[in-house]
Amino acid sequence: MKEFKGRTALITGAGSGLGAAIADVGASLGMRLVLADIDNEALQAVGSRLAAHTEVTTFRCDVADSASVKALSAHAVQKFGAVHLLFNNAGVGGGGGFAWESRLEDWQWGLGVNLWGVIHGIHHVVPTMVEAALADPSYEGHVINTSSMAGFFNPPIMAVYNASKQAVTAISETLHHDLDIAGLPIHCSVLSPFFVSTNIDQSERHRPMDLQVHSEPTSSQQKFKQQSKAGMGSGRVSAEDVAKLTFEAIREERFYIFPHPRMLQSVEQRMNAIVHQLPPVEPFAYRPEIYQALKEELSYAKRAAEMG
Ligand SMILES: NC(=O)c1ccc[n+]([C@@H]2O[C@H](COP(=O)([O-])OP(=O)(O)OC[C@H]3O[C@@H](n4cnc5c(N)ncnc54)[C@H](O)[C@@H]3O)[C@@H](O)[C@H]2O)c1
Repeated sequence: MKEFKGRTALITGAGSGLGAAIADVGASLGMRLVLADIDNEALQAVGSRLAAHTEVTTFRCDVADSASVKALSAHAVQKFGAVHLLFNNAGVGGGGGFAWESRLEDWQWGLGVNLWGVIHGIHHVVPTMVEAALADPSYEGHVINTSSMAGFFNPPIMAVYNASKQAVTAISETLHHDLDIAGLPIHCSVLSPFFVSTNIDQSERHRPMDLQVHSEPTSSQQKFKQQSKAGMGSGRVSAEDVAKLTFEAIREERFYIFPHPRMLQSVEQRMNAIVHQLPPVEPFAYRPEIYQALKEELSYAKRAAEMG
């Protein structure tokens, strides 16, 4: 898609971080915006700011809930007609720690938002895009799913997040093939950043009441929290950079969007280990001190020594 002006973008997770930055760029290009988020206050703040520049509608939506995304899709069509850009972007980063220590509530919440959110977007919005394409020969659409570098390699102590993002990558690659086979004028991209400074390290603010956990965090869960916080501080690529790059990729119909291309060396190492049937390579192998520190802090031998 080369022309954005007057077309409609639907963005989930638009109240903060990458979603809000994507909304900013969309507005600057003259797009009509359907902004959705579970956090109504943050959503309204972004909506009011952008209403001065373009046509905006906001819709409080929980992407983990099918009925909520169905209602969002109906709202978008009713307000602005066909959606041209669908950003399945809402996501949470909670629920880390050793895989066997992640609570079932962590899995349900993490997969509910990061994976089912994308599934619901595809299920409820893409058919309306297909319908628009069949009705109008000039229609063009593009679906952008937010994965992560964790959709391409698997760092330790974050099984929930890795699983959710690997699945988003898999669904996106499949959607790309399906749209191509169907010969539809709808493209797909998978956006896969490494650390970008946003509010994702405070994702717990959106954990639903029925998936709250009250047990004390284990050492590995605390370590995951520390790492997420430190990662936020280390991000050199801004949300605005990522949003601009994403629109460039849509313009060029590029499928893979990697705002941190240096991390692809870790993807290459992972793929190499797979094809040579070697054990999984730790993604931060270029900084072995990170893995070593994890081993020193979280080893059961250390725990046993401390307990006497
Ligand atoms: N920031 C990073 O370093 C980074 C790296 C890789 C991938 N990502 C991905 O980018 C996406 C955006 O995250 P971000 O970094 O901008 O974080 P963020 O917390 O700043 O923004 C996420 C938004 O999603 C909303 N949200 C949370 N749960 C929701 C739900 N159930 N329904 C609807 N909205 C919900 C939040 O209210 C928030 O406004 C996520 O999918 C995340 O996994 C982020």
